[in-house]
Amino acid sequence: MSGAKSGSKCRLTINGRTIEAAPGTTLVDAGLSGRILVPHDCLTGQCETCRVRLVSGSVDDRGTRIADTVLACQATLIGDATIFFDEVPPVLRVGGTVTDMRSLAPDIAEVVVALNAPLEILPGQYLNVRFAGFPGRDYSPAPDLEGGYDPGEARLHVRLLPGGIVSGAIGRAIRPGHKAQIRGPLGAAFLRPGSGPLILVSGGTGFAPVWSVARAARLSQPGRDLFLVTGMRRREEVYMESALDWLIDHGALEAFATVEEDPGNRFRPGRPTHYLPSLGVDDTVIVAGSAGLVEAVRRKAVAAGARVHADPFVASRETLSMVGRLMQSLRSGASAESILSPRPQGVSAEAGPLPGGRRFEPAQEPAERRPASIGRRAGEGGS
Ligand code: FES
Repeated sequence: MSGAKSGSKCRLTINGRTIEAAPGTTLVDAGLSGRILVPHDCLTGQCETCRVRLVSGSVDDRGTRIADTVLACQATLIGDATIFFDEVPPVLRVGGTVTDMRSLAPDIAEVVVALNAPLEILPGQYLNVRFAGFPGRDYSPAPDLEGGYDPGEARLHVRLLPGGIVSGAIGRAIRPGHKAQIRGPLGAAFLRPGSGPLILVSGGTGFAPVWSVARAARLSQPGRDLFLVTGMRRREEVYMESALDWLIDHGALEAFATVEEDPGNRFRPGRPTHYLPSLGVDDTVIVAGSAGLVEAVRRKAVAAGARVHADPFVASRETLSMVGRLMQSLRSGASAESILSPRPQGVSAEAGPLPGGRRFEPAQEPAERRPASIGRRAGEGGS
């Protein structure tokens, strides 16, 4: 590395293009000053979208280094450096309309948004969805649980969060016909070319991106070994059995669910981390879910020298006040009971009000909030 002298500029090479920027500049800002867009989203160290590989030189990683990677929105130049990131589709904004919603589990719903224009999304990437009249939330679009995929729609797994500004409105103020604005794709935990084994780990609705990766991998990289474990807290939350069956039918080595409380005979007891295979340098690990799960898996992967891509979920801290909840309920004109009554899978939402929700459930997983240094985009549903 060549350190920068006071007043001098650093040379930063990004995917083969070299620019100059002042010491102390973040890698994202340095790229922008040279008209190079390093993929990013939150700019606060939460979402992982900007994680880049530090090929040579050195930077002040500001606590974000994992193996040879750093967060480009946090790391700053201290000398010449070379970084690399995988090219991703451009981030676009498109409109959409909610066309369907159904209950997947007592507090998880699937919401389908038809897109007004095509959006290229790599399997595992996420979208920021802003239902009209509500703040934006991040959701990973998933194939349907039987293995079908329609690029003209975004199929979202939403964790219902009592009092959640957005998830609490699904099935009430947000129903089929509701408009949405979508920005994306975002995120760095997507399927990349490769031949080594894929180890996919998820918790809660972290299954959505992992299922997207797993399905695409079986179809486009059939020679690649695939192991998938997904964890839920309670067995009635295990909403992805048909998807796990699809993966086994399509040659996955393993695809199974773990349940922490009272797993019964169908599911394995405990958490996904109890079932990780021994990892090695040829493995690629993709993990999505709560901060605790993501960090535990990432630590093991890094220790084993495996490649790891993480999609940590964080809870939005925005919740409605009691008065706000009352007003929202009055505006929607629906009773909580009518919204939260699950319907059988496959029944169209046109028949009546139904639930939805997504990323993270702080009431149930307070110990798994991610520290700021490894956080991810805000959402309400989640793991
Ligand atoms: S843009 Fe850097 S972590 Fe989100």
